Amino acid sequence: MPDPIAQLGQDLAAEQYFADEGLLTAAHLSLTLGRPLLLEGEPGVGKTEIAKVLARVRGRELIRLQCYEGLDAAQALYEWDHPKQLLAIRACEAEGRPVGELYDEAYLMERPLLRALRTPCVLLIDEIDRADSEFEAFLLEFLSDFQITIPELGTISAVARPIVVMTSNRTRELHDALKRRCLYHWIAFPDSSRERRIIEAKVPGLSADAAASLVAAVTGVRSLELIKPPGIAETIEWGQAAKLLTDEGAEWPTALRRALGLLVKEAEDTETVLVHAESLGL
Ligand SMILES: Nc1ncnc2c1ncn2[C@@H]1O[C@H](COP(=O)(O)OP(=O)(O)OP(=O)(O)O)[C@@H](O)[C@H]1O
Ligand SMILES: [Mg+2]
Repeated sequence: MPDPIAQLGQDLAAEQYFADEGLLTAAHLSLTLGRPLLLEGEPGVGKTEIAKVLARVRGRELIRLQCYEGLDAAQALYEWDHPKQLLAIRACEAEGRPVGELYDEAYLMERPLLRALRTPCVLLIDEIDRADSEFEAFLLEFLSDFQITIPELGTISAVARPIVVMTSNRTRELHDALKRRCLYHWIAFPDSSRERRIIEAKVPGLSADAAASLVAAVTGVRSLELIKPPGIAETIEWGQAAKLLTDEGAEWPTALRRALGLLVKEAEDTETVLVHAESLGL
C-alpha cells in the first residue's frame, strides 16, 4: 500500500477501527480531494463509526446530521428562537425601552449544517436515504458551495472545508447529481482476518481459538439465506456475550449458541441458524 494510505490505516487502527484497502483508499482520496465520502453497505458494517473515528484521528469535532423523513433545510441549518425574541420584546416593553435587533446571533439557534460551517469538523450526514429527495437537492447545493445565506444576517462561508461522510442504507436510490459530487464506496462484510482483528480489539480476553471459531461461525451464518445477516456490530456483541457466559462457567461452543440472540434477531433466522448449528460449529 502507498504510504499515506497505510498511515491512515494505522491511525484508524490506533482508534480500534480496522478498514480494508478499498475503504482506506476511498477515505484517503476523499480527504485529499476534499470530496464527500458516500458510504453504503449492510447494517452494522462500520459506516457511521468511520466518521467518528476520522474526527478523532483528525482532531476535529464530529458534527452529526441524522436524517429522517420530513427533515427540512431549517431543521438542518438554523432556526430563530421565537420564544426568546418574544421575551425580549416583553422585557423592553415593560421597561419602556425601544426593542433592539431581534435577528442577530443572540436569537439564532445553530443546527448541524450551520455549525459545520463555523467549526473545523467532520460532518456526518447519516442515513441520507431516509430524508426526502427535496432535502437531497438542498444538500447538493450546500455541498457545492459550503456557504449559506441567512437573509437577516448575510452570507456565511465555511471557516474550513468540512470533511464530509455521508451514509446510506440504500432504502432508496440517491440522485445521480448527489452521487456525482461524492466519492462512493460500498463497505462489504469483512474477511475473516479483519474480523479477527476487530474481535481481538473489542472483545479482550477471548482466546485465539474461541475468536477463530466465532469468526468462522459468523462467516457461515452470513452465507445462509437470512432476512438480516449479522454485521460487525453483532459479531462484537455476540463475542462479548459469549465471553461473559464462559466467565460464568459455560463451555465454549455452548456459550456461543446460548448468546445467539445477540447475533440474529429474527425468529426465522434463528431457526435457520439452529438447523445448521453443527456445520457452524455451534
Ligand atoms: N471496521 C471496523 N472496525 C472496528 N469496529 C467496527 C468496524 N465496523 C464496525 N465496527 C463496530 O460495529 C459497530 C457498528 O458500526 P456502525 O454503527 O458504524 O454501523 P453502520 O454501518 O453505521 O450500521 P447502520 O447501517 O445500522 O447504521 C461500531 O460501533 C463498531 O464498534
Ligand atoms: Mg449507521
